[in-house]
Amino acid sequence: MVAKQVCTIFIRSCIWLLLLPILTRAMESDITCLRSLKSQLKDPHAYLSNWIFGNYSDGYICSFFGVYCWRSKHNKVLSINLGGSGLEGEFPSGVKLCSFMESLNLTGNNLTGTLPSDTFSSLPYLVTLDLSNNNLAGEIPASLPNMSYLNTLLLDHNRFTGSIPSELASSPRLLQFSVAHNDLKGPIPEFTAGNISLSSFDDNPDLCGFPLDPCPDSFYSMAIIAANIAAAAFFLVGACYGWLYDSRKQNQRPRRR
Ligand SMILES: *[C@@H]1O[C@H](CO)[C@@H](O)[C@H](O)[C@H]1NC(C)=O
Ligand SMILES: *[C@@H]1O[C@H](CO)[C@@H](O)[C@H](O)[C@H]1NC(C)=O
Ligand SMILES: *[C@@H]1O[C@H](CO)[C@@H](O)[C@H](O)[C@H]1NC(C)=O
Ligand SMILES: *[C@@H]1O[C@H](CO)[C@@H](O)[C@H](O)[C@H]1NC(C)=O
Ligand SMILES: *[C@@H]1O[C@H](CO)[C@@H](O)[C@H](O)[C@H]1NC(C)=O
Repeated sequence: MVAKQVCTIFIRSCIWLLLLPILTRAMESDITCLRSLKSQLKDPHAYLSNWIFGNYSDGYICSFFGVYCWRSKHNKVLSINLGGSGLEGEFPSGVKLCSFMESLNLTGNNLTGTLPSDTFSSLPYLVTLDLSNNNLAGEIPASLPNMSYLNTLLLDHNRFTGSIPSELASSPRLLQFSVAHNDLKGPIPEFTAGNISLSSFDDNPDLCGFPLDPCPDSFYSMAIIAANIAAAAFFLVGACYGWLYDSRKQNQRPRRR
């Protein structure tokens, strides 16, 4: 009897010891996420001064400025809102470790550099992403659209170049979208979730297609030229065949006589 109880306790302890690292790692990834965000950004106005790590009580990161948790006693980040905090530096790639995050708002800071292409494939639950009013450059990564819950994507007032990835437009729930005031070019893809308003594309001189003016597409002119050549060739073949047929007929006629 006693042996059985000891055995049960022993097995429970073993299971707990096996699970502990997994549970702690899940929590630690969110702590590492915030830790790396803080270390990757310059914070001239000291908004992140209450981000002090090393207090291992449950939910201690939930009292950090701009951090919201799923539950207050649980170190699991729901959203980060650090809009207009004067933060400077490259996009903090460590945010991908806050993998259960629903909302990331870094609008109105001074973020520079490019968006790492793998950042968003690690944030599948993102509903809101606001990176507007920064100094981000380079191309918009095509992996953005893998966030199937994405509802709001604001990338306006940056220095993004290249085209709007067509994968982006296939996001099924994307309702609020803006890439206004960037340097994007090329055709605007068709948005699955609905038509995006004209102002979302403002001030990108080389964007074209609905809802902007149609593209002066070199592809289409090539297609028209190709079609003309094909038509000419077809006509020529037809004419030759007709001519051969005729001359054969003419050749046949004397024989019949
Ligand atoms: C740890 O964080 C909790 C919750 O924010 C706070 O109540 C507590 O005083 C902190 N402890 C230390 C040693 O900073
Ligand atoms: C992001 O935060 C700013 C203020 O910090 C707020 O005005 C803005 O509406 C937020 N963006 C979204 C998409 O909620
Ligand atoms: C943004 O950062 C760049 C480079 O660090 C700096 O030259 C510029 O003045 C900053 N802009 C603002 C609005 O803080
Ligand atoms: C994106 O989603 C598609 C389809 O759901 C999947 O095949 C692809 O592997 C995903 N890509 C990434 C980078 O997660
Ligand atoms: C988008 O606008 C076009 C032209 O106005 C219209 O034909 C199309 O049905 C609209 N699509 C959606 C999903 O609202």
